[in-house]
Amino acid sequence: MTQSFVAPVDPATIPELPIGRMNATHHEEVALVNRIAACLGEAGAPCAELDALLSEWVAHTEAHFERENRWMRTYRFPAYPVHAGEHARVLERLRSLCAQWRETGDPTALARFVHEDWPQWFEQHLATMDAVTAQFLARVAGPDLE
Ligand SMILES: [Fe+2]
Ligand SMILES: [Fe+2]
Repeated sequence: MTQSFVAPVDPATIPELPIGRMNATHHEEVALVNRIAACLGEAGAPCAELDALLSEWVAHTEAHFERENRWMRTYRFPAYPVHAGEHARVLERLRSLCAQWRETGDPTALARFVHEDWPQWFEQHLATMDAVTAQFLARVAGPDLE
């Protein structure tokens, strides 16, 4: 079967938020998820690098979320519990899907997450919680947080 692969997230659609480090992280993450999606393909066996790519994704997501959580705590962002709670929920889902793939060898649920749930969540999260958080942080701390 020949098919043109469609990446789940077009990097051109990532919103430009007023904190540069957030934007860089979001672009890195989309590039990584698109590589994972290509590895998973649309049917059949994933590529040999899947486990390494998944480990990279979990580590990147942990760092991504912890950085935002740290900024929110440092600058006392009022909605910290809601935003951090959402990070925890998604990280747990990602970890459990990776574990399920490693235990069963069946990538179906993981592939659905990569192609459907995660792109929807990511777009929604950046447009709402990350956008509001970035506006707050830029106002109280400036755009160059690290
Ligand atoms: Fe983010
Ligand atoms: Fe976030």
